[in-house]
Amino acid sequence: MASADRISAIKSSLRVIPNFPKPGIMFQDITTLLLDPKVFKDTVDLFVERYKNENISVVAGIEARGFLFGPSIALAIGAKFVPLRKPKKLPGEVISEKYILEYGSDCLEMHLGAVKSGDRALIVDDLIATGGTVCAAMNLLERAGAEVVECACVIEVPKLKGRERLKSCGVPLYALVES
Ligand code: PRP
Ligand code: MG
Repeated sequence: MASADRISAIKSSLRVIPNFPKPGIMFQDITTLLLDPKVFKDTVDLFVERYKNENISVVAGIEARGFLFGPSIALAIGAKFVPLRKPKKLPGEVISEKYILEYGSDCLEMHLGAVKSGDRALIVDDLIATGGTVCAAMNLLERAGAEVVECACVIEVPKLKGRERLKSCGVPLYALVES
């Protein structure tokens, strides 16, 4: 199926829940996409088609919703998968990066040694809002010596200007749909 048809099916499978988790936030829910195996597969396939010949050696998935897409992409392109986790979840020695969210602040951690100097990294998450989370992910990967090739996500929220923020951190963005 053509990319445009698959993207339009992906867009139709998503839903927006107003005032979650706080009043004024329009929550972009990807769980409805996961309910349709064909649309879920098309989502992963679109990323795989884009990255399979890019010599990506590591897919870094951002907790939690980046874990829904990252491992499938990593397996299909023959890259290792590295989870970037919320604080105090990883048992080994970690490096950490704090960041500001649309609704609060948080921190991402990565196991020391999981990413090596010279690795070519793809960052995967479900959604880019302000871009703060992905910039923190980029900082972790670069501190470990990786080159970040791109950030892949399902949804971009253009009004929150994440694309511009990522540009200022030096990460190209590839998003399947805008909301
Ligand atoms: C959401 C979303 C992205 C991030 C985007 O995650 O899944 O990871 O916010 O925001 P930003 O571009 O403004 O940084 P969140 O941390 O809310 O929760 P999750 O653990 O459910 O993925
Ligand atoms: Mg998230």
